[in-house]
Amino acid sequence: RTPIELAVIPGDGIGPEVTREALKVLDVVAPETFTATHYSLGAEHYLTTGEVLPDEVLEEVRGRDAILLGAIGGKPNDPGIPPGLLERNLLLRLRFALDHHVNLRPSRLYPGVASPLANPGEIDFVVVREGTEGPYTGNGGSIRQGTPQEVATEVSLNTAFGIERVVRDAFARADKRRKKLTLVHKTNVLVHAGSMWWRIVNEVAEEFPEVAVDYLHIDAATIFMVTDPARFDVIVTDNLFGDIITDLAAAVTGGIGLAASGNLNPSRTTPSMFEPVHGSAPDIAGQQKADPTAAILSGAMLLDFFGFAEGAERIEQAVAADIAERVAGESRPTAAIGDAIAARV
Ligand code: NAD
Ligand code: IPM
Ligand code: MN
Repeated sequence: RTPIELAVIPGDGIGPEVTREALKVLDVVAPETFTATHYSLGAEHYLTTGEVLPDEVLEEVRGRDAILLGAIGGKPNDPGIPPGLLERNLLLRLRFALDHHVNLRPSRLYPGVASPLANPGEIDFVVVREGTEGPYTGNGGSIRQGTPQEVATEVSLNTAFGIERVVRDAFARADKRRKKLTLVHKTNVLVHAGSMWWRIVNEVAEEFPEVAVDYLHIDAATIFMVTDPARFDVIVTDNLFGDIITDLAAAVTGGIGLAASGNLNPSRTTPSMFEPVHGSAPDIAGQQKADPTAAILSGAMLLDFFGFAEGAERIEQAVAADIAERVAGESRPTAAIGDAIAARV
């Protein structure tokens, strides 16, 4: 239904700078398709109010159709913000409460992009990162804090239900692409969760006889991500491995400023959330130095999710053309990149 009701969470640091450009482009490519309600959540809001994500706000956001998020996270080691507070109680709370189990992170080397790899080849893959389980659930704790006897645990939670649904999603994507799926895990050490991932991948594989299944341990996967990233089509992996490998994937495809993502609930019973892979980048915040392309491409993923494939394609083509025109070493202000892409769509 239109208009699609968007909850916009610009967040911290470069978040508001890049989100502004994403909305600018959406407004041109799909006018009158969205209504936007802005929520001022993040470090500043916490420091002034003590609130992270009040229950009423979460429930209001739950009633919207989708979320567009910039990035959250304060300045490093800000004494006023407990470590992980915003990450856990805002970002991860949204992902968990809204059941964003498919964290979709595409990587593509656009023609003309300066990859740090000498021979990158044709890179075009998607990481399907599990989004609601693994070591992210917050199970664990510490005792005897601050003493030499301190013990801390972080428990990785994995369920057959959680693995199966994300694995099935990844197979379905591979089936529509180049029909290759790579499971990335660490089954040689994390044997309990690892054997469950392995078993379920092989079970679901029987439903997708045309999809070739490959397996790599996470450490070896980082080798191939650098030496032969073109080998990948769909990677399915757990929450933490997926976090790490998608920053690396971004780096080999031209930088974190280009990497988009969707936190999806494919059943559509809750709003999915679209956000760049990068964080709030306090080191460059407030200087118009951030590349808004990742946020703009996250807007394209949002359009695609709602069936506006043509609009999404127009954004991707405008981005590709903009990237091809970028001169090595040139740095344009954030808004200038947004303006150029908006003018092209
Ligand atoms: P980061 O992604 O913010 O920054 C890493 C490096 O990449 C920095 O040098 C930064 O300047 C650069 N960078 C990031 N985005 C860029 C862009 N669009 N254009 C150009 N350069 C860009 O990661 P970090 O420094 O590890 O984290 C900073 C804060 O962000 C932390 O509080 C972290 O928890 C948070 N974080 C939030 C999200 C999110 O909201 N989804 C994601 C990652 C990190
Ligand atoms: C990301 C971020 C988050 C994650 C953090 C900020 C919780 O790094 O979106 O990649 O680890 O998922
Ligand atoms: Mn990350």
